[in-house]
Amino acid sequence: MNLILKIIKIFPPEASHLIALYALKILHKFKLLGLLTTKPKHEKYAHCGLIFSNRLGTAAGLDKNGDFIDCLGALGFGFIEVGTITPLPQSGNPKPRVFRLFEENAVINRLGFNNKGVDHLVNNLKNKKYKGIVGVNIGANKSSDGQQRINDYVSCFVKVAKYCDYITINISSPNTPGLRNLHDHKNIINLISSIEDQAIKLNYLKPIFLKISPDEPIDVIISIAEHVQNSKLTGLIISNTTINKEALKNATYQDFDGGLSGSPLMEKSTLLLEAISQEYPELPLIGVGGVMNKADFNKKLDAGASLVQIYTGFIIHGPSIVRNILN
Ligand code: FNR
Repeated sequence: MNLILKIIKIFPPEASHLIALYALKILHKFKLLGLLTTKPKHEKYAHCGLIFSNRLGTAAGLDKNGDFIDCLGALGFGFIEVGTITPLPQSGNPKPRVFRLFEENAVINRLGFNNKGVDHLVNNLKNKKYKGIVGVNIGANKSSDGQQRINDYVSCFVKVAKYCDYITINISSPNTPGLRNLHDHKNIINLISSIEDQAIKLNYLKPIFLKISPDEPIDVIISIAEHVQNSKLTGLIISNTTINKEALKNATYQDFDGGLSGSPLMEKSTLLLEAISQEYPELPLIGVGGVMNKADFNKKLDAGASLVQIYTGFIIHGPSIVRNILN
């Protein structure tokens, strides 16, 4: 598996990501995945009314369209979050838009919600064989502004509600201009109440998470957490990528546009997670940002996360990271 990973890493980032996922898909189809990877020991975990086969999941963005749910599930993740999905398909920002910084265990991306649209994802959800927990991360199209942006979240929510185990409202991608303005008090209240209205109409009783940015002032995040606690939403995912590149050692990348993930995000996202957990100990929190090994995973749990997600660690270390973290 390590040799395959080394070869795949030679390709440009987006191509190597797709090659790796299609390789996993083919291996899974021919039932060969089990020969190359050992499934981690399972430690079931009940949370928010769901049974997770373990506490480690994929973060949004890894499988935006739900094309790889079955093979990712077969690697031993306890849950899979697909998306971010938008109502209409869109191609995202011009390439190059993903940069891997192997020496710093980091990635900078400015993809801009490239995805095949919500209908494609729903079709994949209907046809998946994986029986574990699948969450869907929803967003807004780049061309949508103001109330239309809120309507985009609502229309994705309505379409995916029946076919997934939880929904994440993503207001924190730095690569859709103006999206992070949804952290502002008036906007977040409008968004949450629009989603609550739909949840009531659909009698939707499964968890709803809000995924937040690590770059907002702490008082903004505390006020959002309070609002979530008093709403029909379940909890927070902390956090998305950061636009602050100061933690990078290599100065070449500090002026790059996009969101930084991986090791340089670990401390920032974990401190925010800990601060919110201390303020709202009852609020379910999913920790994400910079998890590269078991010690990082445990730090997220110690900081108050019930569940942990990874993305960059999976790109850097490959599928073996699942076993290394969980065993
Ligand atoms: C992401 N992330 C992301 N998040 C999200 O909510 N929707 C998305 O579509 C994406 N897309 C995406 C693409 C790429 C290439 C990366 C590297 C990241 C953010 C991701 O889910 C996670 O929050 C951060 O990457 C931090 O976790 P890691 O990568 O440090 O484990």
